[in-house]
Amino acid sequence: MVAIKSKIMFVCQSCGHESPRWLGKCPGCEAWNSFVEEKSSMKPAVKTQRGLAASTDAPVLLKDVTSGREERMLSGIVEFDRVLGGGIVTGGVTLLAGDPGIGKSTLALQAACRLGDKGERVLYISGEESVAQTKMRADRIIKKPNAELFIVNQIDLNVIIEFINKLEPAAVVVDSIQVVYQPELGSSPGSVSQVRECASILTQLAKSKGIALFLIGHVTKDGAIAGPRVLEHIVDTVLYFEGERYSAYRVLRAVKNRFGSTNELGVFEMTSGGLQEVLNPSEIFLAERAKDATGSVVVPIMEGTRPFLVEVQGLVARSAFGMVRHKAQGFDANRLALLVAVLEKRQGVRLEDQDIFLNVVGGVRVEDPAADLGVALAVASAFLDKPVPPDMVVMGEVGLSAEVRSVSHILQRINEADKLGFKRCMVPKSNLKIQSEIKTKKIQLIPVSNVREALDVIKNG
Ligand code: TYD
Ligand code: MG
Repeated sequence: MVAIKSKIMFVCQSCGHESPRWLGKCPGCEAWNSFVEEKSSMKPAVKTQRGLAASTDAPVLLKDVTSGREERMLSGIVEFDRVLGGGIVTGGVTLLAGDPGIGKSTLALQAACRLGDKGERVLYISGEESVAQTKMRADRIIKKPNAELFIVNQIDLNVIIEFINKLEPAAVVVDSIQVVYQPELGSSPGSVSQVRECASILTQLAKSKGIALFLIGHVTKDGAIAGPRVLEHIVDTVLYFEGERYSAYRVLRAVKNRFGSTNELGVFEMTSGGLQEVLNPSEIFLAERAKDATGSVVVPIMEGTRPFLVEVQGLVARSAFGMVRHKAQGFDANRLALLVAVLEKRQGVRLEDQDIFLNVVGGVRVEDPAADLGVALAVASAFLDKPVPPDMVVMGEVGLSAEVRSVSHILQRINEADKLGFKRCMVPKSNLKIQSEIKTKKIQLIPVSNVREALDVIKNG
C-alpha cells in the first residue's frame, strides 16, 4: 500500500469547490457556511485509479475507429428505459439522485430485478440497508425471486471492487455512493473527497469492464454530506427522481445524458407494491380540474418526445397597495411579465393596478413556448371573468406585437388532446399553412393569428 501524502484543504460540501483556507461563502455555488476541513490526498488516488483502469490502449486515428452503436439493455420498465434514452447503456454510469425517501432504492431494485429476470447478472450493493431489509423490500415489489440478482451489504470500496471483479456482473447498483468509503483516503465517509474519489474509481472500473453502473445519491439541503452535484461531471447520465411530499406521483427526469435527450420525463406512482409506471400522465394532471372556472386553461406541452396536457391557472385581483405583484409557479416570471405587457399595451386589457398570480397545476415546470397563449388567456379569462370553454385546449407562442407564432410537434399535441376527450383546439394559424394534414383531424380547430382573435373566442364563449 502506498503512503498517503495528504494536505489539509477546505472543501465546499455542496458543490465541491476547494480552497486552501476556510471561506464563509462559497464562490462556486454561493452556499453559506459550507466549507469543511478535509484531508485531500493527491497522488495515491491517481495511482489506484490507474491500477484499476484496464485500458492501456495507445492513441488511434479517429478515422480508423469503427463506430458501433452503444449496446443497450432494456429493463422492461418503459418509463425508465425512455428517460435513459432507450435503455441501459453497457459501460454507462448513471447517477440517480433525489431526496431521501422518494423511492430511489425502490426504483433501482425494480430495475435490477427486471434485468435479473432477463438473465443479466446484477450486483446490488446495499450500503444503507441490510440484506434482510432489501429482501423485505423485494418481496413487496416482485413475486418470484430471480436467479441472477446478487445482494450484498458493504461500504468498503476495496471489498466492493473485489466483489465486482469476482462476479463479473452486467450491471451494478451502489446504494448509496455517499456511504461508500475508501479507507486509505483518510477523510470521513460522506465527505466530498470520499464521494468523488469512490465514484471516479467505480466509474473507471465500469468503463473498463463494460458494466452498467448506477450510483444512488441523496440530495442534501444542509450540506452535512456531499451532494450529488459534485458527481455530475464524472458520470454519463444524471437522473433526478422528484415528487411532491404528499403525493404518490414521482417524476424521473434526465438532467444530463451523454447517450440521449435530456428532455425526457418518466412518471411513476408509489403504491404498496412498489413503483407503477403511469403511462397516461395527462389524466392525472387534469384529474381535479374545475370545469367552467375562470382563469383555467388546458395547454398541451411537449416534454422531450412526449406531449402532456397541463392546466394553467390565472388569478387576477385588485392590488391593495401601490405596488402590484406578479407571481408565477411553474412558469418563468419574466415571461409572465412580458405576456401581461402584451395584453396591456396591444390589447388594452387594463391590468396595471392588478395583482397577477399564475400556477401550473401538478408541480410541473413549463418551459415550452407553446404555453404562452394559454398563459395569456388564463390571465385575461380571470380578469374578464369569462371562462375558457372546458372542452378546449390552447397552444401558441406569443410575440411582442401580440402575434401568435407556430409551435412544434403540433400533431402530437392535437392527438393527446383528442385522446383525452377535448373537442376544440386553438392553434396558431401559421401552423395550418405549413401542415395541412392537421385539418384531417376530427377535433375542431380554431386557428388564430394574434392574441385579439384568441380573446374574441373566449369573449364570445
Ligand atoms: P425508498 O426507495 O427507500 O427511498 P430512497 O431510497 O429514495 O430513500 O422508498 C421509501 C418510501 O417508499 C417509503 O416511504 C416507503 C415507500 N414504499 C412504498 O410505498 N411501497 C413500496 O412498495 C416500497 C418498496 C416503498
Ligand atoms: Mg434508499
